[in-house]
Amino acid sequence: MDWGLKNRLSRIIKPKTGKTVMLAVDHGYFLGPTSGLEEPHKTIQPLTPFADSLMLTRGVLRSSIDPAIAPPIVLRVSGGTSILSELSNEGIITSMEDAVRLNVSGVALSIFVGGEFERQTLLSLAELVDLGEKYGIPVLAVTAVGKEMARDARYLSLACRIAGELGAHLVKTYYCEDFESVVRSCPVPVVIAGGKKIDEFDALELSHKAVREGAVGVDMGRNIFQAENPLAMIQAVRAVVHEDATPQQAYDLYCSIKK
Ligand code: R5P
Repeated sequence: MDWGLKNRLSRIIKPKTGKTVMLAVDHGYFLGPTSGLEEPHKTIQPLTPFADSLMLTRGVLRSSIDPAIAPPIVLRVSGGTSILSELSNEGIITSMEDAVRLNVSGVALSIFVGGEFERQTLLSLAELVDLGEKYGIPVLAVTAVGKEMARDARYLSLACRIAGELGAHLVKTYYCEDFESVVRSCPVPVVIAGGKKIDEFDALELSHKAVREGAVGVDMGRNIFQAENPLAMIQAVRAVVHEDATPQQAYDLYCSIKK
């Protein structure tokens, strides 16, 4: 792996613990003003000191993040669809030149394995990896799951493995039963998305199980910024990911910070 690419990847996955807490705030690229992100800067700014990286679009980056104090950025570069259309019909929406200009540490793109536009999204991933290798920028592949697909180990192993085979440097997927087998058969590090908002304790337990079963961390959005106390939640998630806290220890921390 190229020096620049390794250097950028180590800004995302912290060498001290080999883990990462990425804060995903890119939801607006297809969902519009998602609950909790109506005014992005208000939500993101206080959480920034606790995020190892921010995953977002260039629009929110430019408008809402102070370049002087920004953490490492993982820029979402796929999109072009909305919740009202066929989601798998994504293309690349941001050039690698702009990603370089924005000094990002990684770029992210969704693949829709089994989706109507599967081929298009996989070819976009391959193209992005070629550009990532050229410019020394790691590529995060997000395994997007259509409504009609089961989020089980069989499907997620297929999607993660394809992402790794096509050259992604990091894969974001969902936690599932037998998650260990998903991680084992993926040649590159895996992080999990949090998914829809669930109870705070359950989200901490989900993060704990994912890390215990091989994930290098989380790329979590709604379960942090839609939590009753997002600032307490991101610190509790950090305790799980970086300090191996149990879900109960992390939840106690959440409650004490919330107070
Ligand atoms: C998925 O395609 C996007 O990156 C989402 O915005 C992100 O994965 C959502 O994170 P979470 O499920 O934790 O809200």
